[in-house]
Amino acid sequence: MNTPIVSVKDVSFRYNDRKVLEHINFDVPEGSFLALLGPNGSGKSTLIKLTLGLLPMQDGEINLFGHARKNFKQWSKVGYISQKANSFNSGFPATVFEVVSMGLFGKVGMFRFLKRHHKERVHEAIETVGLKAYTHHNIGELSGGQQQRAFIARSLVSDPELLILDEPTVGVDASSVQDFYELLKRLKVENGITLILVTHDVGPVTNLVTHVACLNKQLHFHGYTTDYQRLDNDNLSSFYGHAVHMVDHQH
Ligand SMILES: Nc1ncnc2c1ncn2[C@@H]1O[C@H](COP(=O)(O)OP(=O)(O)O)[C@@H](O)[C@H]1O
Ligand SMILES: [Mg+2]
Repeated sequence: MNTPIVSVKDVSFRYNDRKVLEHINFDVPEGSFLALLGPNGSGKSTLIKLTLGLLPMQDGEINLFGHARKNFKQWSKVGYISQKANSFNSGFPATVFEVVSMGLFGKVGMFRFLKRHHKERVHEAIETVGLKAYTHHNIGELSGGQQQRAFIARSLVSDPELLILDEPTVGVDASSVQDFYELLKRLKVENGITLILVTHDVGPVTNLVTHVACLNKQLHFHGYTTDYQRLDNDNLSSFYGHAVHMVDHQH
C-alpha cells in the first residue's frame, strides 16, 4: 500500500486548558479528496494548522508524505488556501499575474526575474483556473470566487501534490461555489492532486469527494463518502447533528 499523504496519529490539542481535539486518527491516501466536516468551533482549522506546522504539536504526531512533521522539509509540495485569502480590496496594487507569480518565489527567489518558462507556468495556472481574461486585471477588481481561483493558481505554479483548503467558499457567491468545486475536482482528476477541503456545509460536496471526516473535538466518522451517505440515511444526526445543535445554542 502507498504511504498516505497525510497521517494523523492520536493527535490531541488544547488552547490553555481548553481541549479542542481529542485522540484524532486518520489517513489521507494519495489521490483522494477528503471533506473535513464539522460545525463552527469543532477544531477543523486547528487540525489544519497542526498539519501545516503553524501550531506546535502537543500530543500525537502528524506525518506528511511519510515524514514526521518536524522532519518534513518539502513544503512546496503543500498548497494552503485559507478562508481569509479573499480579502483584497479594489485598490490592492497587484495584477492576477503578479499574485500568481508569487507562488514561484519559493523556487526562484523573491527578487529574481521570472524566466520565460516561469512565465509560461504562471499563464498555464491562470488558464487552468479559468481566469485568462483577467490576467492583467488588478486582483481587487475580481469577485470573491475569482480571487479564490487566483489563489489556487498561485498554489499550482509550485506543482503541489497536496492542496488544503480551509472553508474557501466563505464569502463566495452561491452561483460561483459549484464552479469552484468543479475546479477542485478537475485538479484531482487531471493533475492527481490530493485534496483536503474543510467545510461546515456537506451538501454541495458529497458528490465530489472520495472520503469524509466528521470532526467535533473527536472524530465521529471517517471513511468513504458512500459509507458516509449510508450513515446519513441511518440518521447520522444521532451523533453529529446533535452536536451541531449544541454548538448553535452556545452562540
Ligand atoms: N488561538 C486560539 N486561542 C484560543 N482558542 C482558540 C484559538 N483558536 C481557536 N480557538 C478555539 O478552539 C476551538 C476550535 O477552533 P477552530 O479550530 O478554529 O474551529 P473550526 O475551524 O472548526 O471553526 C474554538 O472553540 C475556538 O474558539
Ligand atoms: Mg475554521
